[in-house]
Amino acid sequence: MTSVSALTDHIEQYFEQQSELYGKDTFLLGIQPGKPATATALAPVLEMKENSEIDKPKDLSQKALLEQFNAEHKNCMRCGLGKERTQIVLGSGSAFAKVLFIGEGPGREEDAKGLPFVGDAGQILERMLKRMGFIRKEVYITNVVKCRPPGNRNPNDDEIAACAPLLQKQIQIIQPRYLFCLGKVAANALLRSDETIKALRSKVHSYHGAKTFVTYHPAALLRDQNLFWEVYEDMKLFRQVYDAEIGDKPPMVEMNRKN
Ligand code: URA
Repeated sequence: MTSVSALTDHIEQYFEQQSELYGKDTFLLGIQPGKPATATALAPVLEMKENSEIDKPKDLSQKALLEQFNAEHKNCMRCGLGKERTQIVLGSGSAFAKVLFIGEGPGREEDAKGLPFVGDAGQILERMLKRMGFIRKEVYITNVVKCRPPGNRNPNDDEIAACAPLLQKQIQIIQPRYLFCLGKVAANALLRSDETIKALRSKVHSYHGAKTFVTYHPAALLRDQNLFWEVYEDMKLFRQVYDAEIGDKPPMVEMNRKN
């Protein structure tokens, strides 16, 4: 069976070859219209004072606060997903991360291991991180909902609203400078929007002082290879901003893409 990593290499090679042959526009195909948003229930819960920076916790280190948060929530039963899960998946990575990646919710492998993005979509996310010059342990990775929705369905509004305080707390503790929403559920939840990824991506948004980026969910790349270049453009936009403000990474390797 072909591994996801081999498949990703194959996708990248394919697009490099095809864009060399035909130019990029051939491959910037229409985006599939998004499903109706279900994530806006998060909005009131995640809403904070307009334009306010998130208050930095002062008494404990971020690492200690995150450990405390994990201990407090490991048995969470705020919604019905708690009864269905094998393990809660609160998140993983650095408590001092400059970038926080937000997916939708754990899948089967994440539920089994208690860690986010460890299945096929996780392999794609790791490739994205590598391309942006990051490794997993220097960023923080979490999800809008922390327990697996049965059958990998989208989380519903009640589940998202019940879980929202956890994501909000994680953002308050980690104080990431950048947020990266992976997919429509995360983007709609954070940005209080019903818009499609197509409408939300390729812009720099703001979530209470954190510059916020939006791209397709890594799993979408497995389903639709045509999204590859858009994800690549979103990664480049992120790096442009990151390089201008932080500038501690070697240049992102340019894909051999014909303009
Ligand atoms: N998809 C997600 O949105 N999150 C995960 O953790 C895994 C797959």
